[in-house]
Amino acid sequence: MLENNNNDLKYVKPFLKWAGGKTQLLTEFERRLPGVIKDKNAIKSYVEPFVGGGALFFYLKRNYDIEESYLFDINKELILAYKTIKTNYKAIIDKLSEMEQKHLKKSEDKRKEHYYKVRENYNLQMKDFNYDEFSEKWIERTAYLIFLNKTCFNGLFRQNQKGEFNVPFGRYKNPKIYDERNIIAVNQALKNTEVFCGDFAESCKFIEKNSFVYIDPPYRPINKTSNFTTYSKDGFRDEDQRRLALFFEKMSIKGACLMLSNSDPKNGSPIDDFFDELYKNYNIARIPAKRFINCDASKRGEINELVITNYKLSES
Ligand SMILES: C[S@@+](CC[C@H](N)C(=O)[O-])C[C@H]1O[C@@H](n2cnc3c(N)ncnc32)[C@H](O)[C@@H]1O
Repeated sequence: MLENNNNDLKYVKPFLKWAGGKTQLLTEFERRLPGVIKDKNAIKSYVEPFVGGGALFFYLKRNYDIEESYLFDINKELILAYKTIKTNYKAIIDKLSEMEQKHLKKSEDKRKEHYYKVRENYNLQMKDFNYDEFSEKWIERTAYLIFLNKTCFNGLFRQNQKGEFNVPFGRYKNPKIYDERNIIAVNQALKNTEVFCGDFAESCKFIEKNSFVYIDPPYRPINKTSNFTTYSKDGFRDEDQRRLALFFEKMSIKGACLMLSNSDPKNGSPIDDFFDELYKNYNIARIPAKRFINCDASKRGEINELVITNYKLSES
């Protein structure tokens, strides 16, 4: 096994592909970080209430000195994986290495069979799974999640109404099921980091004057055929977006620096002022992003993303 040391942080990146992942917007976010963070190259306290795959968290870990971080997400499978890598990364590496060897030795048809077997086990295991107390099963379940994420169609995590993982098999020549160096780096990145499964509002107790908070809620659907709000079986509706705007206001009053991103409803309807109204007291920027907003490939293309901050951007 490779050594675990601080150098790995230079390369750390998300260990899962996640719907709404923000890797392609990192340069824009970097430009919009609070001046105090850029001046000191350090962040005292980082809070992310909707962490998902953590594109910005890992980017900041690569480039800034973060004293402490608090990550939240409502998806219990995702949080289980973060917690297991934080506490048992070696066992995860062993399990994934075993799964990868077994999988890659098989013919295409047998790989497909193996994939559906793992998916079935994963869904069966959910029924009486204890997400609160650590057991050996956490290691198996996290390895299953990473395996499914790397071998499923389009490499995403999607659940049906019952909470079952339901993505079909993806055909890849030689899927890279795990990246040992990155799992070690993620374990490093999770030092001085607390991870919680819960609603975004619970993160308020960790937000104070010196916090930097990045808020990336599920997208508000751009059009009726778009189904990008289905991160968990619970969904995120307009009333949640309003609840989030109140949270934003309260945290702003506490004195924290806040940056929020969302889809721009004006992409679908130029007169839709939903977020312009909700965040009218703050700075709203529209930045171009490439994102799939329609199942019809001809309608995919460049659209705007909203980035809202409660602080003035420094000139750069
Ligand atoms: C746009 S994604 C975040 C993507 C992330 N920024 C990345 O780079 O991968 C939104 C996340 O919010 C989570 N979520 C949905 N409802 C939530 C809630 N009420 N509280 C906290 N997290 C929630 C979803 O599980 C999903 O992971």
